[in-house]
Amino acid sequence: MSLTIYVPQDAAAIAVGADKVAAAIEREAGLRGLNVAIVRNGSRGLLWLEPLVEVRTGHGRIAYGPVTVADVPGLFEADFIGGGEHPLCQGLTKEIPYLARQTRLTFSRCGVTDPLSLADYRHYEGFKGLEKAVAIGPVDIVKTVTDSGLRGRGGAGFPTGIKWKTVADAPGDRKYIVCNADEGDSGTFSDRMIMEGDPFVLIEGMIIAGIATGATKGYVYTRSEYPHAIKTMRAAIDIARGAGILGPSVMGSAYAFDIEVRMGAGAYVCGEETSLLNSLEGKRGIVRAKPPLPALQGLFGRPTVVNNVISLASVPVILDRGAAFYRDYGVGRSHGTIPIQLAGNIKHGGLYETAFGLTLGEIIYDIGGGTASGRPVKAVQVGGPLGAYFPPSLFDTVFDYEAFAAKDGLIGHAGIVVFDDTADMLKQARFAMEFCAIESCGKCTPCRIGSTRGVETVDRIAGGIEPEKNRALLTDLCNTMKFGSLCALGGFTPYPVMSALHHFPEDFAPAPMVEAAE
Ligand SMILES: Cc1cc2nc3c(=O)[nH]c(=O)nc-3n(C[C@H](O)[C@H](O)[C@H](O)COP(=O)(O)O)c2cc1C
Ligand code: SF4
Repeated sequence: MSLTIYVPQDAAAIAVGADKVAAAIEREAGLRGLNVAIVRNGSRGLLWLEPLVEVRTGHGRIAYGPVTVADVPGLFEADFIGGGEHPLCQGLTKEIPYLARQTRLTFSRCGVTDPLSLADYRHYEGFKGLEKAVAIGPVDIVKTVTDSGLRGRGGAGFPTGIKWKTVADAPGDRKYIVCNADEGDSGTFSDRMIMEGDPFVLIEGMIIAGIATGATKGYVYTRSEYPHAIKTMRAAIDIARGAGILGPSVMGSAYAFDIEVRMGAGAYVCGEETSLLNSLEGKRGIVRAKPPLPALQGLFGRPTVVNNVISLASVPVILDRGAAFYRDYGVGRSHGTIPIQLAGNIKHGGLYETAFGLTLGEIIYDIGGGTASGRPVKAVQVGGPLGAYFPPSLFDTVFDYEAFAAKDGLIGHAGIVVFDDTADMLKQARFAMEFCAIESCGKCTPCRIGSTRGVETVDRIAGGIEPEKNRALLTDLCNTMKFGSLCALGGFTPYPVMSALHHFPEDFAPAPMVEAAE
């Protein structure tokens, strides 16, 4: 009988040696005359344990990690293929607390299945949402998604059902579904994990969006820095097309839908939906003024849904289990689950899908285990480079769109980057302005010029030059950018800057002058 061993093929696992570990397991098994089947699964999202190798046993899958090539002979000696004891053994995978405490709806298959196996996908409830969608038709799909309370996971938190209804109601001879997989936010990787670990769920979500709105063509727009995701997505699309899931007759129905993957050149602003559409059309990635909304005049001037990967990948489970099932998770107006990504100086970095409603402190300490350095947490930045810095005094903030907005923060794409007490918040404020200056598309003055003036002003404060006057000037400049910018790149850069200034004023005080010795 063949033994099954899982070694993730996720880019994060590969970066720490997963390919070499898989080859070493194959070699060692060969030497020992063992018949071993190695499945290259997605990541479970416990990044500090990667490469996390799992073996299938009669009791369930048992995990070992982080495994290096040098560990492999010892693992065989310890009979890990039978689930034997070893210092790297983490026990039954499903009982590892970091996983056991999660509510995995969108990521239910990620790390479990072979990402390119349609049989695996079907075995773990795949395509049930699509079957339902084909059966109930566009009006009821839009109603289900609206009733579920799903809001866009790309950053703005706009209700997905309302966006779909706008596109469904818009006249147009051709409509498009554009999946925003640009994933530019610092500390975020959930889109990549889905594309590498469970690509069919994104395909399924995009087809459902197409049926709901009358769109027949979809594009996945992602970045050149995601070669593994691009390869897996393209392979999955080919497999789905070959199986009649994509194409002129989706699953034998009257609906047609097909998907193409397009690669951007790696500009942060190309994640902004109108800039993305320009880039997809082969133009320079510059922001378009709204109106017209992309929902009415988007790609090639046609009605277009632009949704984030996680928004689309959350739709199949909503259709399968129903709006009420999804809506019941969460808190306030933040319904369902959110894949939180823990990064930066954190002990247990990784992906943690949970219902909205945990406090920031619970996420950082109980789940993340505090800093990797062991030093006190000084600040966390939530929501990417445009998100505010929160000090520990705000760690009682609940993970919920409105609760974060009330404290001048944002959830964004749910990335959390942790800093310990060695961080210099003036440098972080400078970085925010510098990032904006580099990434600005240049269309509007407050962002294009303001960000460069912002860097200069922070430098003057750091140099002790008229600090009080320059702090006031920085505040004034931030207000101009906040209220005068065309898009959120210029409009939200003030949030990390002002939160750093507000919560960490000591970092913005000039170094005390040293009196010359008499
Ligand atoms: C500067 C900038 C960068 C953005 N980058 C991304 C991104 O990488 N991925 C994403 O999904 N949304 C990004 N957005 C948000 C998109 O403009 C848009 O709101 C989103 O794709 C809509 O999808 P959703 O409703 O599913 O969230 C960005 C917005 C701005 C202003
Ligand atoms: S705010 Fe910046 S990125 Fe956005 S349109 Fe203006 S110049 Fe372009």
